[in-house]
Amino acid sequence: MRVLGIESSCDETGVAIYDSEQGLMAHQLYSQVKMHAEFGGVVPELASRDHIRKLAPMIRGVFTDAGLEFGDVDGIAYTAGPGLVGALMVGASMGRSLAMGWGVPAIAVHHMEGHLLAPMLEEQPPEYPFVALLVSGGHTMLVDVSAPGCYRILGETLDDAAGEAFDKTAKMMGLPYPGGPLLSQKADQGVKGVFEFPRPMIDRPGMDFSFSGLKTAVRLAIARHAVDEVVEEQIQADIACGFQQAVIETLAIKCRRALRETGHKTLVIAGGVSANKSLRTALHAMCKKERARVFYARPEFCTDNGAMIAYAGWLRLKAGQQSSLKVEVKARWPL
Ligand code: KG4
Ligand code: ZN
Repeated sequence: MRVLGIESSCDETGVAIYDSEQGLMAHQLYSQVKMHAEFGGVVPELASRDHIRKLAPMIRGVFTDAGLEFGDVDGIAYTAGPGLVGALMVGASMGRSLAMGWGVPAIAVHHMEGHLLAPMLEEQPPEYPFVALLVSGGHTMLVDVSAPGCYRILGETLDDAAGEAFDKTAKMMGLPYPGGPLLSQKADQGVKGVFEFPRPMIDRPGMDFSFSGLKTAVRLAIARHAVDEVVEEQIQADIACGFQQAVIETLAIKCRRALRETGHKTLVIAGGVSANKSLRTALHAMCKKERARVFYARPEFCTDNGAMIAYAGWLRLKAGQQSSLKVEVKARWPL
């Protein structure tokens, strides 16, 4: 079975073709980051308009890249939420319409299920069951994944998502949008231990997270060290390092708890923040002690992309599911 995947939930247009025999045949990704950067964040109306401009040529492009006749697929998967409604509508209506025209089924995919399954596209995919840590700009969740499509939420953030905390802290430091990856680069130049920030909620039982207090602690540190509103480069890097360490350690402690509680020996990390090298290193170290293994996607499939949607859609279509002709998208949608 061959599936076209379409992702347009935020500021990235992603298109891919996944084939159950041949694997990922082609994928294209276009990031709108430059366009939104001058506004300091994603402007939803601009995002929708740009998805409209990019989507059709990119869809044609992946068929050419894969060496296929245009429309030679058995189904279409599109992201139906959670995300920006206008942006989602672009991908959903395009996907639904093409499916109707080509006479193939269409399936609405949950964006976070896409992220969760992205490591399955790697050469050595994880085996079920596993614990998944989903860390993106909008979500931070621990999930017990017993089988494809069988998800039990173990914990989630009570306020900011991990990526959101990275982005907001970066903004406080005057870094341009999207700040997460830049803050992480800065953190790598900092000295560990110069700034010790709180590890939120690690003393409480359970696997929920909270990152908004950490953001406040960083704000106070910046204010304390600012001279004429400017913080010296090295101090900035040390603060970034302290922040990153606090987030990573908190995530690692909760992941360990999730592995112990479920008894699973496999940890999968997915979503934009899973691209963070220090997080990967810390989780490898933790898992080694727990005699567990860590899996993640290649960096380009950690952030939003069409390949993960094509794969998740294929799983659901294979299981006999399909979506009705009604094009429904959801800004919020529990996993
Ligand atoms: O999964 P994603 O592309 O979009 C959502 O579904 O939200 O995640 C984007 C988030 C942003 O908050 C971005 O700052 C963060 O992932 N991110 C990182 C890194 N790369 C992306 N955060 C920390 N370190 C990174 N290397
Ligand atoms: Zn995402």
